[in-house]
Amino acid sequence: MTDGYLWFEGIRFPVIGYSYEVLKEACAQFVIKDEDTVLVTYPKSGTHWLVEILCLIHSHGDTKWIRSELLWDRSPWIETDDGYTLLNEREGPRLMTSHLPFHLFPKSLFTSKAKVIYIMRNPKDVLVSSYYHWTMTKLCKKPESLEQYFQWFIQGNVPYGSWFEHIRGWMSMRERENVLLLSYEELQKDPRSAIERICQFLGKKLSPEELDSVLKNSSFQVMRQNKMSNFEMLPEAFIRKPFLITRKGICGDWKNHLTVAQAEAFDEVYQEKMAGFPKDLFPWE
Ligand code: A3P
Repeated sequence: MTDGYLWFEGIRFPVIGYSYEVLKEACAQFVIKDEDTVLVTYPKSGTHWLVEILCLIHSHGDTKWIRSELLWDRSPWIETDDGYTLLNEREGPRLMTSHLPFHLFPKSLFTSKAKVIYIMRNPKDVLVSSYYHWTMTKLCKKPESLEQYFQWFIQGNVPYGSWFEHIRGWMSMRERENVLLLSYEELQKDPRSAIERICQFLGKKLSPEELDSVLKNSSFQVMRQNKMSNFEMLPEAFIRKPFLITRKGICGDWKNHLTVAQAEAFDEVYQEKMAGFPKDLFPWE
């Protein structure tokens, strides 16, 4: 570790749980199968929430699985050391997660019929959430202040690279039949409808009672009590504070953190980097 990051193909990655060799092999050779379900997100966009929802849908609302296996083992991250090993040992249909930018993603995805769910979130909330995340974990260089992190974020000098490039890359897949585009905001606004959309996409039929259980057990209040999902079980080498227990799980928290000048500067960069995308594609102003 020289500058607090692991570098791969010009992108920063965390130094704990990742290695150059696995990243290289996973990106070049990992085989996605038709029966797999792949969750793709930029970090801090609601990944863990979606994993909990997907596991509960899979088990028809039964909580045994989410209460007995760690979240990151239920849906391993393709690009991490442990996740890659787990996935290669696992028989399909597999559930898996990734934060990889589009251009680094294993190419086998593009010829497979695997179901892909991409969840996006207001980038200002992602910025604030990720500032706390990288501060509370020991996974990579710790920002000294939100002001400093703000600059890193808009320049893309953060783990997994630029938010703008991530979303631009993955948006190119949005018209595909096997891709579902979701947002953290719609999950907050109407979780039942969003979960129904996911069930429909996955071809899962749940009874109203099963759906109630998915809703209840994936709620922020219940998830933060689940030791298998709330980061309490992460080894001390990874974490300073259990993230889910200390954070809020709301939309618009950026308003409590960014100054007016920062928000304006962010909007200017956003306009420039997201030029050409229809505004109504995204549920934030
Ligand atoms: P905040 O830091 O804004 O609270 P990820 O899972 O991609 O790392 O995203 C983490 C963000 O999702 C955090 O946002 C976290 O609180 C929020 N989150 C996690 N579980 C949630 C849930 N069940 N309901 C709503 N938000 C949730």
